[in-house]
Amino acid sequence: MSGKPDAIVLGTVTERMRARLDEKFTVHAPGAGGVPEALLGASYICCGQGGASVRAAQIDAMPDLKIISNFGVGYDNIDAAHAASKGVIVSHTPDVLNDEVANTAILLMLAAARNFRHDEDWARSGTWEKQGAAPLSRSVKGATVGILGLGRIGEALAEKLGAFGVKVVYHNRSSKDVPYAYYADLEEMARDADILISVAPGGASTHHIVNAQVMEALGPDGLLINVGRGSVVDETALVAALESGKLGAAALDVFEEEPKIPGALKAMDNVVLLPHVGSATVETRAAMGDLVVDNLIDMLETGKARTPVPECRDL
Ligand code: NAP
Ligand code: 8YV
Repeated sequence: MSGKPDAIVLGTVTERMRARLDEKFTVHAPGAGGVPEALLGASYICCGQGGASVRAAQIDAMPDLKIISNFGVGYDNIDAAHAASKGVIVSHTPDVLNDEVANTAILLMLAAARNFRHDEDWARSGTWEKQGAAPLSRSVKGATVGILGLGRIGEALAEKLGAFGVKVVYHNRSSKDVPYAYYADLEEMARDADILISVAPGGASTHHIVNAQVMEALGPDGLLINVGRGSVVDETALVAALESGKLGAAALDVFEEEPKIPGALKAMDNVVLLPHVGSATVETRAAMGDLVVDNLIDMLETGKARTPVPECRDL
């Protein structure tokens, strides 16, 4: 007996996380099979990279569970309200990834507006030598950029966008004290915007809120970018809008059924695709991993998590 409490790791953790966890816990990594019966008495769950799910049934099956520490700021992979109702704290990794994800949104915006995918292929394939200059792309200067989800990441993004000479507007459920125009209605914002960037979380309240009407409102020259959650955008409607030309272009880091990406999107020249890498740099993932472990250790040593999700702040 080591005397250390059991911690269950779901998904993959880095060596750095594992080393810190090993100091304080007896670590079990049960793999794809989920939490084995012999470990249902454990109090600590560490979700690793890749968004391991912890649903209500799993929480109910673990009577002594104290904390589920999530790797990621988005926690739609965990039934947090249910956990809170059972006195279980869910923690996440806010703020440490704001810059990286905002940078990814800028990268996607410029890549899509400036036809990066098409033009890189033009250079690499020798088309430049055979056919001459590539077609002109569009400048973002002067564009109106609508941010759906002006939260921690959204505000970092808005600040960075200031360097590109664009006008920033936003839609949340409620307005904030910020120097950007607020739209209470998403479709109305899309109508006034040239570029719509979603940084909104997943979950029931945002499911498919970027629908066919919003895409049509954005229009044939409009650009839709999603670095929030795949479930926010109706992917079937997105394919239809791009195929019909009702929407101009899209640039996506997140998808409805990751890691699956619809073949129709993969085939389109006016679509930029990334495999959910918004926060995926060595530096930012290290900071996220540190916070995941900090939350577990704080819970063990003080009975409080460092960064609980809003549903669990009063526990
Ligand atoms: P946050 O600070 O909680 O911001 C979320 C914003 O979305 C808030 O301003 C919120 O405002 C708004 N919102 C929530 N529900 C809404 C709804 N139904 N309709 C309209 N607006 C709504 O979160 P964050 O730290 O910025 O992170 C945002 C999300 O980014 C995460 O939840 C995650 O899904 C995603 N993310 C993706 C990556 C990636 O790798 N691509 C990395 C990190 C995060 P109101 O409450 O006023 O509505
Ligand atoms: C991570 C994310 O890639 O923080 C989030 O919400 O989507 C990303 O930073 C993901 O959570 C890894 O598990």
